[in-house]
Amino acid sequence: MSLADFRNEYDKFDLPEHLLSADPKELFSQWVDEAIRLHAPEPTAMSLSTVAPDGQPSSRVVLLKGVEEQGILFYTNYDSQKGQDLAHNPKACLLFFWPTLQRQIRVQGTVQKTSTAVSADYFHSRPLASRISALASPQSQPTTRAALEEHCDQIEAQYGEHPPHPENWGGYYLTPTHIEFWQGRTNRLHDRFLYTRHESQWQIQRLAP
Ligand SMILES: Cc1cc2nc3c(=O)[nH]c(=O)nc-3n(C[C@H](O)[C@H](O)[C@H](O)COP(=O)(O)O)c2cc1C
Repeated sequence: MSLADFRNEYDKFDLPEHLLSADPKELFSQWVDEAIRLHAPEPTAMSLSTVAPDGQPSSRVVLLKGVEEQGILFYTNYDSQKGQDLAHNPKACLLFFWPTLQRQIRVQGTVQKTSTAVSADYFHSRPLASRISALASPQSQPTTRAALEEHCDQIEAQYGEHPPHPENWGGYYLTPTHIEFWQGRTNRLHDRFLYTRHESQWQIQRLAP
């Protein structure tokens, strides 16, 4: 089959105006909960886009770890490419796509780092092997498999079951300025609603699909 002939129908759900919450955080949390409850694959995976100092955008998948007062939470290595991009330009974009629910959410806003205490608490809640990997992996730097495995062994030998929280590993909250909900509908007449923050109020607009 040629790629040009590959199409899907989107007919599972709709998003009528009366289901929109005044605060987009409610609808956001509801869609994440539904993705989990309805067994969407990788329901908390989201694409994070950042922009490098030369203007080059990059996207990669990270995992949603909380929806808090301060914003949408994820964890990473602060020295990674994304960390360097965000240090230069804290504006970022998150994208969720749940194919089985025919839903997409785009979130634009600005990130800030979590406190060291919040990052350390979450770090220590992770499985031991993940903690060791976070210490051993200079994320986004060139390496070899052998160097990574050797570094893991060294860390295990040095710290046993209590590897310390590395300072260059932690969370970011993305505080949204814009959140767009997209629900696939029949005949490509999809439902799209854009929430735009004006100080503490949210304005809602339907957008043409
Ligand atoms: C399903 C999935 C989940 C991921 N979760 C994370 C995550 O929570 N944090 C993270 O730093 N990288 C995560 N990654 C790896 C990133 O996509 C990326 O490869 C890594 O963070 C390096 O990105 P960078 O070089 O652009 O900074 C995940 C990848 C996949 C496919």
